[in-house]
Amino acid sequence: MTDVTATYYFRPKEGISPEWAAQAIVEEQTTGTWTDIATRQNYVRYLDGKIGPIVPSGQGYTCTISYPSEIFEPGNIPQYLSVIAGNLFGLSKIAAVRLLDVEFSRDIVPYKGPKFGIEGVRKLVGTTDRPHVGTIIKPKVGLNPRDTAEVAYEAAIGGVDLIKDDETLTDQKFCPLQERLPLVMEQMDRVRNETGRKVLYAVNISSAGDRIIERARAAVRAGANMLMIDVLVCGLDAVRVVAEDPGINLPIHVHRTMHAAMTRNSEHGIAMRPFCRMVRMLGGDQLHTGTVSGKMEHDVSELRGDNLSLTEPFFDLKATFPVASGGLHPGGAGKEIKMLGRDIILQAGGGIHGHPDGTRAGATAMRQAVDAALAGIAPADYAQDHPELKRALDKWGIAN
Ligand code: 3PG
Ligand code: 3PG
Ligand code: MG
Repeated sequence: MTDVTATYYFRPKEGISPEWAAQAIVEEQTTGTWTDIATRQNYVRYLDGKIGPIVPSGQGYTCTISYPSEIFEPGNIPQYLSVIAGNLFGLSKIAAVRLLDVEFSRDIVPYKGPKFGIEGVRKLVGTTDRPHVGTIIKPKVGLNPRDTAEVAYEAAIGGVDLIKDDETLTDQKFCPLQERLPLVMEQMDRVRNETGRKVLYAVNISSAGDRIIERARAAVRAGANMLMIDVLVCGLDAVRVVAEDPGINLPIHVHRTMHAAMTRNSEHGIAMRPFCRMVRMLGGDQLHTGTVSGKMEHDVSELRGDNLSLTEPFFDLKATFPVASGGLHPGGAGKEIKMLGRDIILQAGGGIHGHPDGTRAGATAMRQAVDAALAGIAPADYAQDHPELKRALDKWGIAN
């Protein structure tokens, strides 16, 4: 019998022992409840969870809980979450509890994982080992389809490898998906003809559960070359449904909006690591995990571990491309690459469209910042003969 081993941090309330707290979690999540019950027959006890060593950690403790894999219904990711991340967060005698990581056993990973992965996306774009540069159409909502396509062209001709819709842009009246998608793809073709470069456009297909697969298929018919899903608001299984559809052979860019409601509090909630492992097994080709120099709260060591969970060996699944996004600009690219390595997508919205000389110069400045980092040249030195980068550094400075 194999196990699925989850690691938790927890802080019992005053007067509650860590042993009692850990036992309360394992009872609640497997065959017990808050009191003893006559119906807990011996033959069900093979599904009991096993508590590992309880180790003091910060204000509380950590421990592992090994769940017999038979408790999970293979392929039912919602049910996986109800076991490893269900009622336990509400147990009143535990002041705080956070799911830190999960080690899934092969028998409950009946998934194929990313169709493209890092290697496949690199092949699509034609890069070998440099970080990819992406942008987000800004303003995040409001532009009409034609202006959206124009912004996309400027970013693409300026040098980005990837353009994405913002997480709140889907199929609103002011910019219908089926109008903007063909117009943007026309501009991607124009850049291909002018430069030979293939630029990916991640159209946001996030939508209600019974609509997302049809929206994905319609995007394929309309000529999309990448899809985007807001995984937490759509539900993790939305990635699987799209990734497993035999008629959809496009990379999937996964945004994680709403994650901070669960990942940010270091004492309570769900860390990003379990989400990384689940998005990868469900078929996400790219996943936002955060930055070391951007606008969002971050813990560098957690982030590096999160990115490693996307790229390290995980059964026979391809690696998922980590995306650093949120407040990035050319002055931060060097620090991102230094701390996160080359298998990273550096994405900037404001940090490209807010360039003093506009989107095209902003995209060029981001590429120049990456080139400087790969050449081991300080950005300020490299900027001496790279005017777009110089203008960006003059405006936003350098993140050290
Ligand atoms: C639920 O699903 O509502 C809880 O498991 C309630 O079970 P309890 O009454 O034994 O706490
Ligand atoms: C994203 O969706 O990645 C963010 O909107 C990034 O936008 P910003 O670079 O302007 O923070
Ligand atoms: Mg956004």
